[in-house]
Amino acid sequence: MKGSIVLFGPPGAGKGTQANRIVSLTSKPQVSTGDMLRQAVSSGSELGVAARAFMEAGELVPDDVIIGLINQRLKEEDASSGVLFDGFPRTIAQAEELSKIAQLSVVISIEVPDESIVERIVGRRMDPETGNIYHIKFNPAPESIAHRLIQRKDDNESTVRTRLSAYHEQTSPLASWYESQGLLIKINGNRSIKKVGDDIISELSDK
Ligand code: AP5
Repeated sequence: MKGSIVLFGPPGAGKGTQANRIVSLTSKPQVSTGDMLRQAVSSGSELGVAARAFMEAGELVPDDVIIGLINQRLKEEDASSGVLFDGFPRTIAQAEELSKIAQLSVVISIEVPDESIVERIVGRRMDPETGNIYHIKFNPAPESIAHRLIQRKDDNESTVRTRLSAYHEQTSPLASWYESQGLLIKINGNRSIKKVGDDIISELSDK
């Protein structure tokens, strides 16, 4: 597959969880704007300071900040044969900008109803050493690493509701935008992690 892939869906849909398998299949690097922003926040950079309040409130970071980050990232050598975008684009303005700088092959939309999202987000735990994503009920971490797991600051019930509103208002319109371009593939994300991944891999293998 020549172009880039977009992993699209609401917070907690399973984009990060599924990214590893897609990276192994396609050898395209994962470009997660959420991860890039969290790194900027923990390094205390100017960008991180600007982004932090938006992220902790569950609101989208302004488009110009995100577009600047992506422009920078796509100049790196490993991005020359396309990347796996995770959590980008999230607004029509971001998608329009992206269409000027990268060619997309497919947009994978992982569909999960709002009722499932809160439980997924509140129970999520991250391994800061490996970046692996776990869930206290659906995907428990091995006992040996349980002591070092962390919970993201924005993974609480009230912030999730703001994130879901931002998704429905600003991001979900992108689905029909990409559908009209013939790029959108819908995946039922409300099944086991393995089944969702198998479907994504089989769709991508046909491309
Ligand atoms: P970001 O980090 O992108 O967060 P998000 O989109 O809200 O997505 P998540 O990381 O919460 O969910 P995910 O779909 O990756 O789910 P995961 O695989 O972890 O963004 C954070 C913030 O940064 C935003 O709020 C915004 O402020 C800012 N930002 C980022 N990008 C931006 C942009 N482009 N423009 C503007 N602002 C931006 O899974 C979730 C949990 O569910 C895990 O515990 C997992 O184990 C579990 N799980 C996964 N799949 C399943 C399954 N099939 N069944 C049961 N449990 C499952």
